[in-house]
Amino acid sequence: MNKQEKLALVESALEDFYGNQQFASSLREAVLYSIHAGGKRIRPYLLLEVLDSLQVPITQEHAQVAAALEMIHTGSLIHDDLPAMDNDDFRRGRLTNHKVYGEALAILAGDALFLDPYALIAQANLPSQTKVDLISNLSLASGSMGMVAGQVLDMEGEGQQLSLEELQTIHANKTGKLLAFPFQAAGIIAGLDENLQRQLKTVGELIGLAFQVRDDVLDVTASFEEIGKTPQKDLQAEKSTYPALLGLDQAIAFCNQTLDQANAKLEEISQVVSFDKEPIVKIVESLRING
Ligand code: IPE
Ligand code: IPE
Ligand code: MG
Ligand code: MG
Ligand code: MG
Repeated sequence: MNKQEKLALVESALEDFYGNQQFASSLREAVLYSIHAGGKRIRPYLLLEVLDSLQVPITQEHAQVAAALEMIHTGSLIHDDLPAMDNDDFRRGRLTNHKVYGEALAILAGDALFLDPYALIAQANLPSQTKVDLISNLSLASGSMGMVAGQVLDMEGEGQQLSLEELQTIHANKTGKLLAFPFQAAGIIAGLDENLQRQLKTVGELIGLAFQVRDDVLDVTASFEEIGKTPQKDLQAEKSTYPALLGLDQAIAFCNQTLDQANAKLEEISQVVSFDKEPIVKIVESLRING
């Protein structure tokens, strides 16, 4: 199955979930506006690609788990853009959710995208224990032990001079955990032993850290056309970021070194289990910052 086919499966899982139910039409419109806004889909794609690398035949059920993850990610972006948080007018190249639907509906669309995924996974035709493990790990990656906690620390870090360690904790939580979930989920679905599951999760954590450092760098260096959101926002908000703390060149070097570590870990894993690391290395390489 190629990349297009994998992404198409994720789109149909999203479509089927929201398309087949009757609910408040304004909520449906606000949710689908952000779902269909043209995100890169790196998280669900990683999940299906890691499964493929582990030689697990990909099914619709796996796409449902991947779609559930993308729903939580999309909800996190809607809330992240709210005036009370990063106050952004553009996302994915178009107006942010609250700019189109108002703050109240944007908050509720985010709420729906945080809660719906658990039913989607629970209803999937997978073994019960697999679903319990997936739901538990997705909740831990998203809530008070994960993304939400990271967003709180990010907010409280505005205008502060944080240590590198504190900044790493923010990035690990607000972004790292939702990028580690595809690796955890693939390990759970494939029934890998605990040690291998832990190793795979580490790859995801490294990619997640590099991903947020890259996002911080692009905020400084990229154009609106490239990132689909207003650049140079982090400086204005006095955000604690890697470029702010280390300078641009060192932040870029840190991102690339973290990606090297992810590749080294992938190599280690491929030595002990039947695992085709190349497609994942290709995704890692696509995150490298040149220059
Ligand atoms: C943006 O994530 C928020 C961060 C965690 C940096 P993405 O860069 O994956 O956003 P989309 O989904 O492609 O819009
Ligand atoms: C976002 O971090 C992390 C989330 C959990 C949504 P940012 O605030 O840097 O993401 P962008 O730059 O708005 O996409
Ligand atoms: Mg933010
Ligand atoms: Mg933001
Ligand atoms: Mg950012």
